[in-house]
Amino acid sequence: MSSFWSLWIIALVAINILGSWWLLQANRKIAKGEGATTGHEWDGIQELDNPLPYWWYLMFLGTLLFAILYLIFYPGLGNFKGLLGWSSTGQWEQEVARAEAKYQPIFDRYGQMSVEQLQSEPQALKMGQRLFATNCSVCHGSAATGSYGFPNLTDAEWIWGGQPQAIEASILHGRQAQMPAWGPALGDEAIKQVTEYVLQVSGRDADPQLAQAGAEVFASTCAACHGPDAKGNPALGSPNLTDAAWLYGGSRAEIAHSVRAGRQGQMPAFADQLGHERVRIVAAYVYSLNEASGQSSP
Ligand code: HEC
Ligand code: HEC
Repeated sequence: MSSFWSLWIIALVAINILGSWWLLQANRKIAKGEGATTGHEWDGIQELDNPLPYWWYLMFLGTLLFAILYLIFYPGLGNFKGLLGWSSTGQWEQEVARAEAKYQPIFDRYGQMSVEQLQSEPQALKMGQRLFATNCSVCHGSAATGSYGFPNLTDAEWIWGGQPQAIEASILHGRQAQMPAWGPALGDEAIKQVTEYVLQVSGRDADPQLAQAGAEVFASTCAACHGPDAKGNPALGSPNLTDAAWLYGGSRAEIAHSVRAGRQGQMPAFADQLGHERVRIVAAYVYSLNEASGQSSP
């Protein structure tokens, strides 16, 4: 706040307090003496010109005193911060620090344990579930089953690997998938062929002739990332194309679109935001979802 507006607010507050005090004093005086009427009468009720009751007067003075003391100790007078130095940010920081002091030892203890060890700590998994609800469910869904473009974390199909270390690394450092757009390089015909090939290797109806031509395209263009058997490569985040799990939908049109336009799925990094201990805890929760469904990867 500029010093002009600060002074302006100080002046307004001072005028208000002085004005209230003047109003109070002005109304203590009575013109005609106790018991006289003001001349106002309505329905047989007369208004007497009596002074304010003394207790009421003192209460009013008390509120003025309170306002003045408040403005001395707490912020309120323009840029003046108050003698106590209180601020809402400061209070919030204190509360955060108190919560940290309370929970940090718990986080530290869990942070020392491995994801596998945490599987037998129900409290840690519960914490992980809460961390997941706050930080992850916007993208992966509250049940972690994912949606278009966001992988299902409860099944046995992993893009970047389902071992505890791989899951933890996905969360800590994030993941950036790079599937190039093949439209310009391949052209429509080759895209059609390789799409049929992908449909074929994933066990669906495909045009055999186009698929045969597509196999060649795949071997020369796609196998480097997706592997010669199209089973994917967790190191590159290139998914297995032979299973039923599709990040972007497995229809003919979606597959062709993935190939033509490319895909760049991004998983944000959480190391800074959550810290290593909380990441370990939420990784343990994600891992437990697979344990629970009995599909854990080796
Ligand atoms: C902004 C959206 C977003 C948020 C928030 C998010 N994720 Fe992700 N996550 C993604 C996307 C997109 C991918 C897939 C990246 C790709 O295309 O390979 C992914 C991938 C993953 C993977 C790897 C999956 C695999 O199959 O290998 C894990 C594990 C994961 N996320 C866990 C989490 C956890 C735990 C959180 C919360 C701490 C979280 N994610 C928050 C978008 C998000
Ligand atoms: C440079 C490595 C690379 C090459 C080469 C590559 N891909 Fe990909 N592909 C990826 C990655 C990484 C993803 C995951 C994208 C994401 O998660 O956003 C992917 C995703 C896909 C998907 C979507 C899978 C799903 O689950 O929805 C299809 C389909 C696909 N690729 C087919 C192909 C075909 C066909 C070719 C050859 C024409 C090819 N890719 C070449 C890296 C590659």
